[in-house]
Formats: sequence, C-alpha cells, structure tokens
Amino acid sequence: MATMTDNSAAPSTNETPAVVLSVRNLSTSFRTDRGVVNAVSDVSFDLHRGESVGLVGESGCGKSVTSKSIMRLLPDHITRYGTESQIRLDGENLLSYSEKQMRVLRGDRIAMIFQEPMTALNPVFTIGWQLDEALKYHTKLNRRQRKARVIELLDMVEIPNPDRRYQEYPHQLSGGMRQRVVIAMALACEPEILIADEPATALDVTIQAQILRLMKNLQERSGTAILLITHDLGVVAQTCDRVVVMYAGQVVEQASVRDLFHNPAHPYSKALLESIPQSGRKEKGKRLATIDGIVPSLLDMPKACRFADRCDYRQDLCTTDLPQVTDDGNGRSVRCHYPVGQSSSTGSGS
Ligand SMILES: Nc1ncnc2c1ncn2[C@@H]1O[C@H](COP(=O)(O)OP(=O)(O)O)[C@@H](O)[C@H]1O
Ligand SMILES: [Mg+2]
Repeated sequence: MATMTDNSAAPSTNETPAVVLSVRNLSTSFRTDRGVVNAVSDVSFDLHRGESVGLVGESGCGKSVTSKSIMRLLPDHITRYGTESQIRLDGENLLSYSEKQMRVLRGDRIAMIFQEPMTALNPVFTIGWQLDEALKYHTKLNRRQRKARVIELLDMVEIPNPDRRYQEYPHQLSGGMRQRVVIAMALACEPEILIADEPATALDVTIQAQILRLMKNLQERSGTAILLITHDLGVVAQTCDRVVVMYAGQVVEQASVRDLFHNPAHPYSKALLESIPQSGRKEKGKRLATIDGIVPSLLDMPKACRFADRCDYRQDLCTTDLPQVTDDGNGRSVRCHYPVGQSSSTGSGS
C-alpha cells in the first residue's frame, strides 16, 4: 500500500482517510501532596487511518500523560479526567471503559511502545515465550501456528536468526534488538493504532534511524496509524505526516509537517524549529534546545497564554486572556492571539 502522506507536492486532498482515534478536550490531572497537577489541559486531536502523527514538545509538557491517558495506564486513584474529556475509538469513549474492557483493547486494537524496551519485556522469560503469550491472549491460533507466526514476526522486524532468538532471554539481546522484539510484540495483533513514546530515544543514533525506518515500513504494509511521541523535530520531519505541538499541557499548534516546518504559526513552534541546527540532517545531539525562560508550574497555570512569558511576540492581551484554538478547517489549528505571519521561513531544506 502506498503511504498516505499528504505532505508531498500534491495540493491538499479531499479524501482524508477515516478517523480511527479522536481525542477531545482531554484534561488529565493528578492529586499530589503539593496539590493538583494539571498535566494535560483541553487537548484535542485526531488520528486517521494509516497516518503518522508526531506529538512534540519539551520534556514535561504532557506528551506521555496524553498517551497514557489514551491507554488508560495512569494510576486510577490519583488521576482525574475532565468531565468534557473524550477518547473516542469507533465512537466509544474509552474514558468510560472498565479496566477489563481496556485490557481487551490494549495490544489488540491499540498497542504502545515505550522508550525503554524492558518496560514491555519480562527478564525471566524467553523472547519466544513472551511473543507466544501475546498471541495466545489475542488470537485463536494453535500452538504450531503461533510458533510460526512468532518466527515470522521476528523476521519482519529484521531480527537475524529468529529460530535461535526465539529461545533467548531479553538480556542476551542488544537494546536495539530488544526494541525490535517490542515492536514485533506490538504488531503481533495488527493493531489499528500504535502509540510509540520516544521509541528510539534510549538507543544510539544509527540504531534509532533503523528502528524508525522499520516502524515506517511496517506501517506502510499494515495501514496502522502511528502516534509518535518525540522531542526530536528531525524525527518528525523524517517519519510523520502531521504534527501536534504541545506546550505546558496544551496543544498550541497542529499542522501538516510541511506547513509546520515551512510556516509555523505559533511562536513556540517557531522557537522550537529555530532551536534545531539544520532540519533534515541527521546529527548527533540534535534535540530541542531549550528556549529562554521557564515553563509555568502545572500547579498554578496562568489563565492567560501559557507561553506569554517566553514569547517574542507577546502583547498585552497575551498576559490577560487565554487564547482559544482557531482552526482553518484544513487540518491546521493554533492556540495564539497573534499567530506568526505567513512570510516566516525556517530555512529548512525540503
Ligand atoms: N503520576 C504522576 N503524578 C504527578 N504528576 C505527574 C505524574 N505523571 C506525570 N506527572 C507530571 O505531569 C507533567 C507531564 O509529564 P509527561 O507527560 O511525562 O511529560 P513529557 O512531555 O515529558 O512526556 C510533568 O510535570 C510530570 O511531572
Ligand atoms: Mg514522556
């Protein structure tokens, strides 16, 4: 199947693939000793079939909390979701699901990969055993069929000698190989949605590139929608169709990768882009450089624009009123009183 990107030279298409996941007004807070931490505030975005969406922003801005809210992996006793919050999968709101219902979904229709592969692997069981368990839980395959499928999956994620690897324990594999196993496990049941939270960040740069290419290839074959969480805009440029930019728990901009890189509308997006050396070039340490100023505390958010203190374009309104999200109806939205003009260019080679 061809990639469903819309960031090629073609003009915007009318036939957008179906929405598979719809996050609406997601607010997630935690009760802590220090008070209520509002980690995610009023976040909305869609994921369409077969597309890759990058979720970016500095550390602590709420990316992982957003993904764990979708997977319902946050500690129930301290986590609260806003009353308006919805996470819709085929029209059903996952926030109203029981843990039992979620368990059926997880790894079946929605799979997740974390930064550290050992989060998903059990050190005391062989690779083969663990993949077999996943298939046992989610499919009706018999023992022989499962074994064949496991070998096939290991082969698919380009693990050499899958027959031998089958019998090995996680510690016998390198970090990159372990993450491949986790990807195999995530893809075992052909999920509609794959959420990858910094899947390659812990790996060295060449292995990172391999892992991301692998995910992309597998996606092109399966049509799985990917939500790729990363702080690395270079990764987004190389692997995603669209991008959702978060700042201090809110989505500040959504755009196609092309629009965001060539014409960022939110001053924060612009600052992020300017903080990477040369987009499109793979360099070590190409991370989001920090932007001057500090992020407001999640315990006490200003009612105004959360980025105002650090913003080069700040005007009076920005320090008094919370900007609402404006949407151009073409998949582009921004939460800013004074979006950056159309003439700006980041100089990113295309
Ligand atoms: N279980 C928790 N209890 C309290 N605060 C939390 C919890 N999990 C995350 N947070 C806070 O929520 C904010 C967003 O965190 P996170 O989503 O992990 O950021 P990132 O964008 O780096 O993934 C951070 O300030 C973090 O400290
Ligand atoms: Mg995170």
